[in-house]
Amino acid sequence: MKHALLAAASVSALLFSTAHADDITDQKVEDLLSQMTIEEKVGQLTQFNGFWDVTGPAPTGDDASESRFDFVKRGLVGSMLNVVGVEDVRTIQEYNVENSRLGIPAIFGYDVVHGHKTIFPIPLAEAASWDLDYIELSAEVAAREAAAQGLNWTFAPMVDISRDPRWGRVMEGAGEDPYLGSAIAVARVKGFQGDDLTAPDTIAATIKHFAGYGFAESGKDYNAADVGTVTLYNVILPPFRAAVEQANVRTVMNSFNTLNGVPATADAFLQRDILKGEWGFDGFVVSDWASGREMIDHGFAADRLQATELAIKGGSDMDMESYLYFDHLADLVEAGTVDMDMVDDAVRRVLRVKFDLGLFEDPYRYLDDAREGELLMAPAHLEAARKVAERSMVLLKNDNATLPLQKGETIALIGALAADKDAPIGNWRGQGEAGSAVSVVEGFDEAGLDYTYAEGAVVQTNQPTFAEEVVVNMDNRDGFEEAIAAARSADKVVIVLGEVALQSGEGRSRADISLPGVQQELLEAVHAANPNVVLVVMSGRPLILTWADENVPSILQAWHLGHESGHAITDVLTGKYNPSGKLPMTFPRSVGQIPVYYNHLNTGRPGPINEVFWSHYTDEENAPLYPFGHGLSYTEFSYGNLSVKPTAEGYNVTVQVTNTGKREGEEVVQLYLHDKFASIARPVRELKGFEKISLKPREKRKVTFTLTDKELGFYNAKGEYVVEPGAFDVYVGTSSDATLSASFELKD
Ligand code: GLC
Repeated sequence: MKHALLAAASVSALLFSTAHADDITDQKVEDLLSQMTIEEKVGQLTQFNGFWDVTGPAPTGDDASESRFDFVKRGLVGSMLNVVGVEDVRTIQEYNVENSRLGIPAIFGYDVVHGHKTIFPIPLAEAASWDLDYIELSAEVAAREAAAQGLNWTFAPMVDISRDPRWGRVMEGAGEDPYLGSAIAVARVKGFQGDDLTAPDTIAATIKHFAGYGFAESGKDYNAADVGTVTLYNVILPPFRAAVEQANVRTVMNSFNTLNGVPATADAFLQRDILKGEWGFDGFVVSDWASGREMIDHGFAADRLQATELAIKGGSDMDMESYLYFDHLADLVEAGTVDMDMVDDAVRRVLRVKFDLGLFEDPYRYLDDAREGELLMAPAHLEAARKVAERSMVLLKNDNATLPLQKGETIALIGALAADKDAPIGNWRGQGEAGSAVSVVEGFDEAGLDYTYAEGAVVQTNQPTFAEEVVVNMDNRDGFEEAIAAARSADKVVIVLGEVALQSGEGRSRADISLPGVQQELLEAVHAANPNVVLVVMSGRPLILTWADENVPSILQAWHLGHESGHAITDVLTGKYNPSGKLPMTFPRSVGQIPVYYNHLNTGRPGPINEVFWSHYTDEENAPLYPFGHGLSYTEFSYGNLSVKPTAEGYNVTVQVTNTGKREGEEVVQLYLHDKFASIARPVRELKGFEKISLKPREKRKVTFTLTDKELGFYNAKGEYVVEPGAFDVYVGTSSDATLSASFELKD
């Protein structure tokens, strides 16, 4: 194997790539661009939120709304967000096509994050399925429904890697690992964009938030992120690069945070040198909501004029809701502060995506009333949502085969979340209707289970809007007695606890990630009455479940599973579906361990030794409660016959997996690599391969992984990709704690 130093090309290409396959479209873009005035160009770089009822009266009352409305009415606005529905979209599109000089169609964006009208499990839950086919299907269904409502662009998938469950937005991503995160990013983009972006049931995707947002300090949303090159290149960037290079993602959204002191919106190193230069990204960058204007708060721009200059020069092509480009870009070009070439490069990118979507060919392509009616919440979509939900749950613990529930058992079903039809819809719910999920109570009813329900205690005491705080019930224990009585008289308790929908998502960071409010007290009181307890956890993030792990025989992580939540949870609890999920994110023992993750460095004092001078806590374990990749089944799997054989490209790692239990089950076979000595310290383990397989009882299967430069190499502190000779260990098994290992020596 050659010692391959793959120098990262560092071309900072401002001009549109001429290597783009479709030269005919490039020519159309050039022809159109050559006719455009500066006002028309600014329009293409401007995205307004739907700021009035577009089919209602014109907005009045303040100059800003009236001037924006005038711009829209003249058909100059390039994009709108949060305008949904064939009728509303058609109204705006007609302005653009009929009222403007060049008839450039608008593109309509929306946060279609885990389903559009049919709501699927939150992305972190889907990531726990490790099932790329179902993850792609989920995005495909979402695109079909969004496109049926006139949308042609989603601000998803969010691909931010994060190691901090205090950050509320972990619910939107794929967890802590760049390898799993990259595979899922590609699957989601392919699901949204399909094979033909001009098709009326596919939409342009957006990978976000570029970059480093998930490393917000102390897990506090919008906070500063400071990371070194090694973490940036080896952990944060891979999912973005994979989506650009493997799935041709058409747009990128930048992020609110500063990365090493520079707001991402103005970061030419990120947006021009890496994204558009090194990776050759030929779509466009949209800012996050008013992130341009926020550069003033960051203390990076003195005023809106300077923020405008910094944003366009930093490579942020379209301005969402800052009104910077709308108010100031033309003046900066006029004054010679910003080159017209830079504006033209941004406009080309936007026009290109609109051509890719077929919007020039037919601006009304996505506007079919019939499709809007027949596709939303179609039975096939709900069935898909149920299958994805079943596969997203993770069985964290199951002592004494407490699960699955047995016929004839009497059950006490406890917890407000067991009857809650809204929590499972989760945050970032698109057009999903509030309170429209199947609850666990309804799932139990349909399954004919013999149960008594008791609420125990509510989680929240208000019904907050998307922008309001959740008020948690901290003192109402009125329902405890009824719950305890129900527990006492039942064979088994199923208690559903956790978070309501708006306790995770944007602006929802929590410093204490234990069970909110009085739920832990309720759990302990019910357990004291009947220790035969199954805990079902609904949440948008890993919670601290340490007491439960020490006292409760079975724990099922059920996240927020979308519309089919109650059916899917019942399917798993009754054994109709054998749980197959694996954790995409580590579950800490205590919040003090955070950040705690599996692919950590060994340190110079890994210990343990019989004194204090090693890397540890005096009051907490180093190990998390549940590691990355953990998840149990109702059957058992054994691993053996591990072999590592050299090939022309690298190495083949083969393992034999056997279902040693009594029922069929799915297993996620995981391959981890440890580069033992290198020019920078390398993680003790890194996921470099996985395969989800299904085995009947006693069935054996050989699984082979290939290791090539792509898996063996890493980015060094200069951002160069290197593959270095030396000793490697591989670990193969059912989680990142796998013990079955082998070694090999990579030759020069
Ligand atoms: C929000 C989010 C971003 C979303 C955008 C539009 O603030 O940060 O993820 O796509 O605004 O809603």
